[in-house]
Amino acid sequence: MDGFDPEQYCRLYCTFDEGCDPEETDRLRENLRVLDGYYERIGSDLAPASSRLLEYGGGPTVWPLISAARHVNSITFVDYLDANLEFVKKWQKNVESAFDCSSVFRYVVNTIEKNPSADEVDRRQERVRSSIRDIISGDLRLDAPADPRVAAPHSYDVVSCHYTVGHACHVTSDYIPFVKKLGNYLKPGKFLLLSDMPTKYDFPWGNDSGDGKDVNVKDKEFIIDAVRRAGFEVLDVQVVTRPTPDEMPAEQVMVLARKQ
Ligand SMILES: C[S@@+](CC[C@H](N)C(=O)[O-])C[C@H]1O[C@@H](n2cnc3c(N)ncnc32)[C@H](O)[C@@H]1O
Repeated sequence: MDGFDPEQYCRLYCTFDEGCDPEETDRLRENLRVLDGYYERIGSDLAPASSRLLEYGGGPTVWPLISAARHVNSITFVDYLDANLEFVKKWQKNVESAFDCSSVFRYVVNTIEKNPSADEVDRRQERVRSSIRDIISGDLRLDAPADPRVAAPHSYDVVSCHYTVGHACHVTSDYIPFVKKLGNYLKPGKFLLLSDMPTKYDFPWGNDSGDGKDVNVKDKEFIIDAVRRAGFEVLDVQVVTRPTPDEMPAEQVMVLARKQ
């Protein structure tokens, strides 16, 4: 398949509804749990009334924002592909044809947070929708993002970037400078939540996700080292393992880091 297909990506990966890939959704559950734990850990360093989050390379999906929305006031959503931005804008506007992410919200609120309230699931969706202030184009490969709304350096409390840095790299040596770029958006002492896949694979939704050619980012140690060299203190690393590593990477690495 040429290009990145937002609908297929979300169907496979970003829902627990019928038609999803069970292995993918096991991994999504783990990703959601790890992120929720990270927000519990850094929550006391965030002010829900004023903290700003930058979701970089958010793709067509909002799963990383469900736990985050309890701890931040505003979210800037950035992706390279216009098709992804339009997909998320539709979800934010809650139009009828938008992708339904409510099963993922239910999992976070009802299962991870152990809050059985259906109203809270709806409230959280509304909270994420209203926290997203801008949905804008950005390219990790550019020195300065084209849109001034995302260009302000040192202004965010959280940068959240999942399964994107490896996609944006053309060569392995791009990795550290790209993580540094993410760090430039952060206030000193604030937080990077980064996930990545250590190896190159052919993804069923297409590899050509944006300008990037997938790059082999080697292994977990490579990612941890890159985050350190990019100017962060690594606070935690979690590895999410898939049962059948033949089609997709066996390991996914999630890192919580503090900008020094
Ligand atoms: C595998 S998807 C990850 C989407 C989402 N973060 C998630 O975890 O479900 C990779 C994303 O990287 C984005 N991307 C690729 N090259 C990029 C670049 N140069 N700058 C910013 N984003 C890029 C793609 O548009 C795509 O949305």
